[in-house]
Amino acid sequence: MKLLITGGAGYIGSHTCVELLEAGYELVVIDNLSNSKRASLDRVMEITGQRLTFVEGDIRDTSSMTSLLKAHSFEAVIHFAGLKAVGESSRLPVNYYDHNVGGTISLLKAMQAAEVYTLIFSSSATVYGDPETVPITESAPLSATNPYGWSKLMVEQVLSDLQASDDRWSVTLLRYFNPVGAHQSGLIGEDPNGIPNNLLPYISQVAIGKLSHLRVFGDDYPTLDGTGVRDYIHVVDLALGHLAALKRNVHRPGRHVYNLGTGKGYSVLEMRAAFEQAAERPIPYEVVARRPGDIAACWADPSLAMQELSWSAVRGLEDMTIDGWRWQSRSPNGYED
Ligand code: NAD
Ligand code: WQD
Repeated sequence: MKLLITGGAGYIGSHTCVELLEAGYELVVIDNLSNSKRASLDRVMEITGQRLTFVEGDIRDTSSMTSLLKAHSFEAVIHFAGLKAVGESSRLPVNYYDHNVGGTISLLKAMQAAEVYTLIFSSSATVYGDPETVPITESAPLSATNPYGWSKLMVEQVLSDLQASDDRWSVTLLRYFNPVGAHQSGLIGEDPNGIPNNLLPYISQVAIGKLSHLRVFGDDYPTLDGTGVRDYIHVVDLALGHLAALKRNVHRPGRHVYNLGTGKGYSVLEMRAAFEQAAERPIPYEVVARRPGDIAACWADPSLAMQELSWSAVRGLEDMTIDGWRWQSRSPNGYED
């Protein structure tokens, strides 16, 4: 079965490509390499011993996307391509709507022209805004507090309307919680540009000595130790969630929505302590003011994915931190090394 993977050179895309190749799928990846390196796909091929086809291109180029889709017989598209930095999205909203919403619409036009009707979309727990209760189920109220979050909600709406208008479509919305860690080989992982925004990449750069200390954004939240709590999920478990969704929903018309999380929350200080153990070195920190827009606690109720997809996350905190550290310590400068 042949698949088109948009944004497949990125962090989650590259890990998903590994699992898909190992499961026997044939892959074409399209990526504009705006936030990734070609080397990640070379590593994917090195890990799996299998080949994939790479096309450097932009999903917003509808005519090239149409040619690409028509040139192959794809059973489905897995759509990772997009911009994801929350802070940047408030500074450059037009860019975010252009890549995330405009890019998806361009992709959908090309899929319609090529008559490919199965899509799996990278959504986010950010669509739950500041949740009223945890754990969060798929039917919780949706909201957004920044342009990135709005762009994800808008794409969910576009895909839902599309599916409602045409029953040939199978649309799967995967709402990821907080992906962390790296492939066990240490050959692929997260390679952020500049100073990381997210907790785990920041902690690992403190551990490797690139940053002096962690700044903990607030210790006065109503949580166990006062620091923010999130549902961190090993990126390989997340990748396997895509396989499960694909197997179940390919050519199964409908709108399918799943939380991909572990169902367990950890605080910032718990994550720091776990990473200290994995890296066997101290991670100094100071508590600073809350980061604007942050919420206290967020974790998934992942039971629907278990029921419908027979999928659940099996890798624990130790796997997340040990695998993340293996990647960071082998490649302190990411794919430059
Ligand atoms: P990433 O930046 O590593 O991967 C995204 C890829 O898309 C990159 O390789 C980038 O070069 C490519 N890209 C961006 N715009 C493009 C365009 N117009 N045309 C072609 N390629 C383009 O990010 P990631 O962490 O792997 O995230 C993948 C998807 O999952 C994104 O849609 C993101 O919003 C979503 N998501 C990520 C997280 C997270 O915390 N990492 C959480 C929830 C959802
Ligand atoms: C986690 C916790 C911070 C950095 C973001 C996006 C979300 C999704 C995943 C894409 C929070 C604290 C962090 C630091 C800290 N992405 N922290 N010091 O904010 O849950 O989610 O990434 O869809 O949309 O908003 O993840 O890793 O940034 O933060 O104390 O230097 O770590 O306050 O409690 P977040 P994060």
